[in-house]
Amino acid sequence: MEQTPQQIIDYYDTFYAGEGFTYYPPDFTRRVLASICARAGVRPGARVLDVGCATGYYSAIFASLGYDVVGIDISETGIRKAREMYPDIRFEVQDATALPYGEGMFDLVFALGVSVANTQDMQKLHHWLRHLLHVTTAGGSVAFLGGSDLSGRDSATSTWYNHTWEEIRHFAPPDSGADFLGPWLTHFRLMKSLPAVFAMNGVTTSLLRILPVHFQRRIVLLLKNR
Ligand SMILES: C[S@@+](CC[C@H](N)C(=O)[O-])C[C@H]1O[C@@H](n2cnc3c(N)ncnc32)[C@H](O)[C@@H]1O
Repeated sequence: MEQTPQQIIDYYDTFYAGEGFTYYPPDFTRRVLASICARAGVRPGARVLDVGCATGYYSAIFASLGYDVVGIDISETGIRKAREMYPDIRFEVQDATALPYGEGMFDLVFALGVSVANTQDMQKLHHWLRHLLHVTTAGGSVAFLGGSDLSGRDSATSTWYNHTWEEIRHFAPPDSGADFLGPWLTHFRLMKSLPAVFAMNGVTTSLLRILPVHFQRRIVLLLKNR
């Protein structure tokens, strides 16, 4: 179920004031993010924008991999905690649908589980992805990651809508001037354990499509600016 921006802010401010998310351990996550960077062809030293960065966990892992990272989130509490935990990283309170950055500022725009994608309105999703492409360099990529059990229903325990495969197939915005890789279905455990091309490809995607509904897959879509 789609929420208003204020509902999203209120929810995450409260959530991050408490325990917040539980993550896979740093070594595990480093391999997952390195896998995405390998698939996107983005090398350490590149500028990364972590969109919807929460309390900064992924931003910190990007930094530890040698990327020059900026984390943004609409939740002030999330950003305050991120700054407290990782004082050497730049974090800003920003709305991901109205980024203040100029054209081509980042080599990789990383957007994992950002609530803006929690919609069945494809035009809204396409408009947002074009906005992310605008701040990405020529040759750079937007790495869009989501989660879905492919059921076409809201999650039982949250407001998250599970897109069907048919909807996911149409995530890439038409006429954006970008090439795209995917969408693929994968899982963090595959991304951690397998070389990137085996974790994210058409065969793995076809296999994961036939798993039962309760299996939580990751959606990965790479949009590469020309
Ligand atoms: C499901 S959480 C994922 C957080 C983080 N990417 C992670 O995986 O740990 C969604 C995040 O998106 C942020 N968010 C939602 N709408 C946003 C917007 N318009 N601009 C920036 N951040 C937003 C929320 O505040 C929240 O931190």
